[in-house]
Amino acid sequence: MILITGATGVVGRETVRLLAETGTKTAAVTRNRHADLPAGTQLVHPAEVAALDGVEAILLSPRATGAAAADLLARARATGTSRVVLLSAVTVRYPAGHARFRRQFQAVEDLAKGCGLDWTILRCADFAANTLAWAGQIQATGAVRGAYPRARTSTIDERDIAAVATLALTRPHHAARTYLLTGEQSLSQPEKVAAIGEALGRPLPFVEATPDEIRRGMLAAGLADEVPDRLLGSLADYAREAGPTTDDVRRLLGRPARTYATWASDHHAAFTGGEHR
Ligand SMILES: NC(=O)c1ccc[n+]([C@@H]2O[C@H](COP(=O)([O-])OP(=O)(O)OC[C@H]3O[C@@H](n4cnc5c(N)ncnc54)[C@H](OP(=O)(O)O)[C@@H]3O)[C@@H](O)[C@H]2O)c1
Repeated sequence: MILITGATGVVGRETVRLLAETGTKTAAVTRNRHADLPAGTQLVHPAEVAALDGVEAILLSPRATGAAAADLLARARATGTSRVVLLSAVTVRYPAGHARFRRQFQAVEDLAKGCGLDWTILRCADFAANTLAWAGQIQATGAVRGAYPRARTSTIDERDIAAVATLALTRPHHAARTYLLTGEQSLSQPEKVAAIGEALGRPLPFVEATPDEIRRGMLAAGLADEVPDRLLGSLADYAREAGPTTDDVRRLLGRPARTYATWASDHHAAFTGGEHR
C-alpha cells in the first residue's frame, strides 16, 4: 500500500488518481472524512496513520504533516516501509525569498535522508495552481494587479509533479535521487496572465502595483503575514534573477513538461467562476 499525505492538495489528489488508475492500493491522509477521492482509496485521518500497517512507500507533504513528519518516518522505518518521496522546493538549491521558508524544506530533506528509508526528493518550482489566487480579481476586475512584473519562473504543472511522484513511489531505481521539477518555459508574470487571457479568449492586462499595496491587500483579505512574506520575498528575488529551468520532467517522463498555456487552458473555468479548487 502507498500512503499519500496531503492527499487533498493539488499534488496529492492527482497522485492518488494516478495510482488508482493502475489499481495500486492507496491510503489517503485527510482530516476530511468525506473527501472526494477515487473509489477504493482508503481515507485515513492524520491521527490514525500510526495504526496503519503494510505501507510500502510514503508521499510526504511537509505542509500537511508539519512537525509530525519525524514520528511518521520513524514509525515507517520500524514497520517495514521501503521508501519516502518528499515534496520539497527548488529554493533549497537555488535560494530565493526569505531564508526561513527554505530552511523548513532543508530540515525536512535532512529528515528524509536520515530516516533509514530509501528516499527521493522532488524539489519543485512554483506550482501553476498558485496562480489560481488570481481568479477572484480576474472575475471582479478583468485584470491582475501584482508586484514585480519582471519576476520570471518556470512554473510547474502539479500534474507533472504527481506523475514523477507516482514513478518514484512505485519503482525502486529513484532511490537517493534529488530531482528539480520545473516547467521548460521561463515566464514573467504578465506572460502568465496573458496565457490565462488566451485561454479565456480575451485580453487580460497585468497592472503593476507596489509590493506594499499587494501586502496591504492580502492582509486586508484576512491572509496571514506568512502569505505575502512568502510570495513577495520570492518575487523580489526572481525579478533580479529568474528561477531555474530544468529538463528533469522530460527525462523522467519521456515527454516535455506541460506548458503553462496548457495548464491555463485546462483550468480556464476556474478563472470565470465555473470551477473552484
Ligand atoms: N505551492 C508551491 O508552489 C510549492 C512549491 C514547492 C513545494 N511545495 C510543497 O508541496 C507540498 C504539496 O502542496 P499542495 O499544494 O499539493 O498541498 P498541501 O499544502 O500539502 O495541502 C494538502 C492538504 O494537506 C492538508 N493540510 C494542510 N494544512 C494542514 C495542517 N496544518 N494540518 C494538517 N493537514 C493540513 C489539507 O488536507 P485536509 O484538509 O484534507 O486534511 C490540504 O488539502 C506542500 O508541502 C508544499 O509545501 C509547494
